[in-house]
Amino acid sequence: MNTRFAREHLGGQLCTTVEYPTHSFASQTIIVTGSNTGMGLEAARHFVRLDAAKVILAVRSVEKGQKAAADIVNSTGRKGVVEVWELDLARFDSVKAFAQRALALERLDVLVANAGIFMFDWSEAEGSEATVTVNVVSHMLLVMLVLPKMRETAERVGSAGRIVFCGSFTHWMTKFPERKEENILEGLDDKGKARMRDRYYVSKLIQLLVGRELAAELEKSTKPGRIAASVSNPGFCKTEIMRHGSALFELYMKFMRKSLARTAEEGGRTLVLPASADETSNGQYYDSGKIGMPSDWVLSEEGMQTQKKLWGELTARLEKIHPGVMQNL
Ligand SMILES: NC(=O)c1ccc[n+]([C@@H]2O[C@H](COP(=O)([O-])OP(=O)(O)OC[C@H]3O[C@@H](n4cnc5c(N)ncnc54)[C@H](OP(=O)(O)O)[C@@H]3O)[C@@H](O)[C@H]2O)c1
Repeated sequence: MNTRFAREHLGGQLCTTVEYPTHSFASQTIIVTGSNTGMGLEAARHFVRLDAAKVILAVRSVEKGQKAAADIVNSTGRKGVVEVWELDLARFDSVKAFAQRALALERLDVLVANAGIFMFDWSEAEGSEATVTVNVVSHMLLVMLVLPKMRETAERVGSAGRIVFCGSFTHWMTKFPERKEENILEGLDDKGKARMRDRYYVSKLIQLLVGRELAAELEKSTKPGRIAASVSNPGFCKTEIMRHGSALFELYMKFMRKSLARTAEEGGRTLVLPASADETSNGQYYDSGKIGMPSDWVLSEEGMQTQKKLWGELTARLEKIHPGVMQNL
């Protein structure tokens, strides 16, 4: 095992308590995807506690979202702050409708791209493998569609907008053989060749690479309204992310969660802290709430070339889904 991975992730998991967020989000409007449960719910609860003016729970089940909203009101005592909006990242028409609604907001300061799935078997969404669609493609589509509102807000309030992607230490855990495909994203859509046992890890690695490239593009942009995009690894947390695993796997995870995992509340903090960091957070990889380092491969020459290649493939795909969307950059 790579010694840096062992020291920073396994060691950090056992020895580090994530800082409790205290920064005020007063007046801000914040969207958290996948916030009916797990870390998204806990991050949303923190934002409400920290005085945000509006926190939008972007959820695929409005019923579950309303239960989560009631729970947040109950625990924080703040009414009239939480809204529940439908967003199904497995459907591009849902992402587009959600973004259209977001463009009508008075302001949008923070987008936390938290929702995610961990699939063990092949399944499809929008004609592609579902993990890649939900964890990577739809989230970047959402980001690109709401970027004009975030820029407009940032320019008006004089403070950078923040995009936080929920990454994962599991980006270390794949050798990513698909990187050798002529077109990586198309290769991942080949059911015959799919290696589902590490597809989630691959999705988190790709999300990290395209998140870093988005940050580089934002840095170059001369458009008014600054935006800082970062990727945050919450560490291993007690949530429902592995709900699609087998009964045997669940038994193993039960043991692992008991001995190693953080609470969802502590994991939620890791999504809130980068949203309150200054503009230099653009392009950073956060690890347990602090600036950290992605894997050696991500930082290697090959990793950087793959990052650019994937960005080209992803933006081409986004243009097909919504022609002209990349002009928002
Ligand atoms: N738990 C960990 O140890 C760990 C470690 C590193 C990173 N992460 C990441 O943390 C993030 C949050 O996951 P979690 O651990 O809190 O797991 P979770 O409890 O399973 O929460 C996942 C959230 O994503 C939502 N979601 C799934 N598919 C969606 C879709 N098509 N459209 C919209 N929302 C969808 C879920 O909604 P439903 O409830 O309706 O399905 C749920 O709200 C994920 O990105 C995950 O990869 C987790």
